Amino acid sequence: MKIQRRQSVVLVPYPFQGHVTPMLQLGSILHSQGFSVIVAHTEYNAPNYSNHPEFFFHSMNDGLQGIDMSFPSLENIYDMNENCKVPLRDYLVRMMEEEEEEEEEEEEDARGEQLACIIYDNVMFFVDEVATQLRLPSIVLRTFIPEPVLEFCRAMSDIGSSVATIWNTMQDLENSMLLCLQGHYKVPFFPIGPFHKMAPLASSTSILQEDNSCIEWLDRQAPNSVVYVSLGSLVRIDDKELIETAWGLANSEQPFLWVIRPGSISGFQWAEALPDGFERMIGERGRIVKWAPQKQVLAHPAVAGFFTHCGWNSTLESICEEVPLICRPLFADQLVNARYLSQIYKVGFELEVIERTVIEKTVRKLMISEEGKDLKKRVVEMKQNIVVGMLADSSSHKNLNDLVAFISSLPT
Ligand code: UDX
Repeated sequence: MKIQRRQSVVLVPYPFQGHVTPMLQLGSILHSQGFSVIVAHTEYNAPNYSNHPEFFFHSMNDGLQGIDMSFPSLENIYDMNENCKVPLRDYLVRMMEEEEEEEEEEEEDARGEQLACIIYDNVMFFVDEVATQLRLPSIVLRTFIPEPVLEFCRAMSDIGSSVATIWNTMQDLENSMLLCLQGHYKVPFFPIGPFHKMAPLASSTSILQEDNSCIEWLDRQAPNSVVYVSLGSLVRIDDKELIETAWGLANSEQPFLWVIRPGSISGFQWAEALPDGFERMIGERGRIVKWAPQKQVLAHPAVAGFFTHCGWNSTLESICEEVPLICRPLFADQLVNARYLSQIYKVGFELEVIERTVIEKTVRKLMISEEGKDLKKRVVEMKQNIVVGMLADSSSHKNLNDLVAFISSLPT
């Protein structure tokens, strides 16, 4: 008797927050569509298993012990790709052998699974080689739109022999750019975002511990009064920028919630470089935390603006909660995202100079000026377009149905 097997997908995330989050969200989306989901992850920044009881996990020996990966160099990325090849290949070979054994035994009560494909973050480009060797289909997840700055590393922009690409965006938001990329990659193309709204589960994908006490602080603030400040999970700034930002926020006289991630100020453990007595001086008007439950923060009625580095996840999360932005991009796609937000969508002000008076003025412009109100109007409209884009018969849902059918039809 032929065993009816549930299809499984193996996901390989790049082990940094801005990439782990969309990969786990994609896992939740596929799990809700009936797939069994296995996350093959590096030891470095391993996801918290207990937040995702619906997934299986496999840890790969990444050979990164003792290496400072907090801001990885290209060499680190290549080493990680090299080191993970054998662990992933051995694991997949074992899975395939088990599948074959079950097939041969043809046990009626066997509850086997059939590996349908491997989905990998484009930065984990070694997966293409492993999949090709084992004749397994692979699909690339692009967690953000590729930019010229990464083009010097062709391995990350090529999709090798992968049979499709998945994008955390919506056709309605970036149609012309997506058409252009589709023409370039020449494989089926599935924009099914925003993932955090398409995923059924709201379980945390945070690698760092979230400080939930900031929500109680937000509860005590007036509606639409707080500027939320966070530069994401990778960016580093110097102590001069920290000090200019501190005075800019203080002098704006607006309440603020500020995430200063440990290690994000070059040369310091945490926020030791803040002006002496800064937190005491600010008192209840400001709150500084090491890591926040960001999606909850942006959805809070007290939050009126987001001072951000414009990482792609932060960008989508802010638009989806109708929060206008102050853009302080630092590298890669952040620069282009900031240009789009400030000049094309016109839902953000870009900070050209990191100087306390400029920060003060920009925060006030966002929070209390007519121009700021215009940004708010436009971000509300933009959010409405995304909502329309997410209705059951719209592009992201249609693309998701197509993706499910595509994976199910892959030869195994
Ligand atoms: C990285 C790159 O820097 C970025 O350019 C690219 O677009 C994605 O990969 P990162 O810098 O971490 O990402 O930024 P972002 O994409 O915004 O992702 C950060 C994630 O961390 C968001 O999902 C955000 O909700 C979460 N976060 C951030 C928290 O949960 N708490 C925080 O305090 C700060």
